[in-house]
Amino acid sequence: MGMNILGIESSCDDTSAAVLTNEGIQSNVIASQSIHVKFGGVVPELASRAHQKTISQTVEQALEEADTSIDEIEAIAVTQGPGLMGSLLVGVCFAKGLALSRGIPVIGVNHMDAHIYANFIDETPEFPFVCLTVSGGHTQLVHAKAPFGHEILGQTRDDAAGEAFDKIGKIMGLPYPAGPHMDHLAQTGNRSFHKFPQALLKEGLDFSFSGLKTSALYFLQDKSEDWIKAHLNDLCASISEAITGVLVHKLKRAVKQTGVKTIALAGGVSANSMLREKSEHLAAESGLTLHVPNPGYCTDNAAMIAITGKMKAESGQFDSLAMRPFASL
Ligand code: KG4
Ligand code: ZN
Repeated sequence: MGMNILGIESSCDDTSAAVLTNEGIQSNVIASQSIHVKFGGVVPELASRAHQKTISQTVEQALEEADTSIDEIEAIAVTQGPGLMGSLLVGVCFAKGLALSRGIPVIGVNHMDAHIYANFIDETPEFPFVCLTVSGGHTQLVHAKAPFGHEILGQTRDDAAGEAFDKIGKIMGLPYPAGPHMDHLAQTGNRSFHKFPQALLKEGLDFSFSGLKTSALYFLQDKSEDWIKAHLNDLCASISEAITGVLVHKLKRAVKQTGVKTIALAGGVSANSMLREKSEHLAAESGLTLHVPNPGYCTDNAAMIAITGKMKAESGQFDSLAMRPFASL
């Protein structure tokens, strides 16, 4: 079924709008908020204000880049949660207002589902599959049995994987978000420079990254700034090794437990090159099909909201204008 869908995402610190037509994604505009860099993390109050400022121009730009007009749009898909309440409200209110004025339906999308369905933008993964969703706010192993039929197999008990990258990177003086910088620096570093702890490695499908953060803090507290700078690549490689090692170890366990033949990665951290490399190795070794979204569809974006909206629309899942955002799952 063909339907022109406008996707809107505003759950955290990126305002994004995308247009999806019969021919696929036509635009995916992401306005990142630089205001948070100087605070070393997202300040919720500033985030919602920045969304308010940029949302209408972001939507306009997405329509323009898709060479279409609002008249052609048949439904609006918007992130309903989880996320920061103030930020979500901006996107949801904007979407509802626009839907009301155009007389078109609105579709509320779960942000975590959308990360998984980002895999359906360029490819068509076969159900059932296991998806490792790793972002700044979440770390989950999900058994996707059928469209919107998910079982959470395991998740983090404390920090998310992206949060671990960001917080440890901050200790080492890297700018926020540190994940992509760590990834880049790690590529020329020695992964066995220092062995950082991997919590719950032998146990179940849950994760824990707060111990790693504390261990990195203790390890680095008596080192000089110059020493850290001189060993930055090796430190980034060793920390990435600890994080991605435990992620893929558990992914492998989830595959064994469920018997799936297909695996997928999702979320901002799935852009990480070491994670991709280890997942490719697991897939080759175990004869699995691996799906990973294009890097632009890994971090928060509205294209993943639009594609999830399309899948919901195809099964008649629309929302009324009484739809409200939700902050947590
Ligand atoms: O999915 P996302 O954009 O937002 C959330 O929903 O949280 O994920 C953002 C997270 C940040 O923690 C960021 O540092 C991390 O993804 N990230 C990476 C990489 N690119 C983004 N972490 C490691 N390596 C990367 N290449
Ligand atoms: Zn996200």
